[in-house]
Amino acid sequence: MRTLWSVTLATFTACGTSPGTSATEGSLAASVTVSAIAWSAAPWSGDAAVVLDRNDLVIVCAQDKTSVFLGSALFAQIADLKGCRGAALVEPWRGAGTWSLFVSSDGNLVRVLDGGTTEIVSDRFGLAGKNVHTLGIPANGFLAFAYDGGIAISNGYNVTTYDVGNTTAFAAGGHRVAYTIDGRVYVRDIETLAGSTFDLPGVDHLAIDETGAVVASVARAVYRDNGGTLELVRELSAPVKSIAASGSAIWITAPSDLGRIFGGQLALTKGANLTEGSRAYGSSSGDVWVADGKNLVRYRVADDGDPARVAWERDMQPIYGSICSACHAPGGSGQLVLSNYDAWVYKRKRIKERIVVALTMPPAGTTMSEENRTKIAGWLTLVGE
Ligand code: HEC
Repeated sequence: MRTLWSVTLATFTACGTSPGTSATEGSLAASVTVSAIAWSAAPWSGDAAVVLDRNDLVIVCAQDKTSVFLGSALFAQIADLKGCRGAALVEPWRGAGTWSLFVSSDGNLVRVLDGGTTEIVSDRFGLAGKNVHTLGIPANGFLAFAYDGGIAISNGYNVTTYDVGNTTAFAAGGHRVAYTIDGRVYVRDIETLAGSTFDLPGVDHLAIDETGAVVASVARAVYRDNGGTLELVRELSAPVKSIAASGSAIWITAPSDLGRIFGGQLALTKGANLTEGSRAYGSSSGDVWVADGKNLVRYRVADDGDPARVAWERDMQPIYGSICSACHAPGGSGQLVLSNYDAWVYKRKRIKERIVVALTMPPAGTTMSEENRTKIAGWLTLVGE
């Protein structure tokens, strides 16, 4: 067991964020249009739900039970898993396959098998008897946990625990973890342990995007780590109630507004009028789930006529779901995540190289039809260089 990380202290002073003014409202009102995606949801009770999705599989852990949906049908219900604190789709180690991993209300790690049965797996991560608060995927092949008194990082071979103390918020992504203790935000690389520490009194929510940028909220203010300094992104008219990383973006609820942070800008959505108590949950697809205790709605950034996005959803997403997702989902064995539109645009040159030019993807053992290869080539042409 290793002890405390060495701390490089960068101080952040929250002056100039005068909570009384709302001058940034309106003037900075970049907006993004979202549309609700139809899916079948069974009603449930209780004001919290944790959602996990992969292709057609959607698992909702609510206060009273967990429901497993396949396609548009309710497939199984699990009475003894409820009030989950966190969830992630993970490949815990090479060859283990993809696990739907939840943190139960009593701090255990619970794997939900495809048939709807459960297995307590805390001991597989050396966390039996620890009261786990939540978990996240800092990078493919890694897993990170926060528990009473510390945090733990698995590299797929070993789990290392760090006695950092009791964390309040915790997030993982972009090869980093971030956590808060006593109004201070700690950001650490998962392997070198290098990072920054920010004073941010009152910090309540945290998330990290795929690039490793940390987003933190204090009441109505949203901050973002811009390579070692926390900068105010925007002040909202109401307090932030939840933050969730989803694909390449981060979503917030505040509380009736749904906002999306992408590339350092926070855009408020048109098309989502949330109810009080709404909370956002990420999806590797880039969509966002919003649960308000009664309903669960899946929102997607509207196409806005962008032909590359329309074509991606029509042609690439099914190919991803049936072929690439076996290895390129978050936490999977393929080194890059290809679960969402932005990731495909960002990695278009590598995709062209491996799929169209060298024909070395998917790897030997996985077949892909000529028709699908042609579809990918066609989409790449549409996106351009
Ligand atoms: C059976 C597992 C598997 C499947 C299925 C698979 N990949 Fe991969 N992919 C890998 C692994 C492992 C790597 C990293 C090693 C390598 O580069 O060969 C990789 C690497 C890549 C890379 C290169 C990444 C880089 O930055 O150099 C691209 C692009 C890629 N995959 C695209 C795809 C696409 C698109 C699909 C679906 C059509 C797909 N892969 C299906 C396992 C897979």
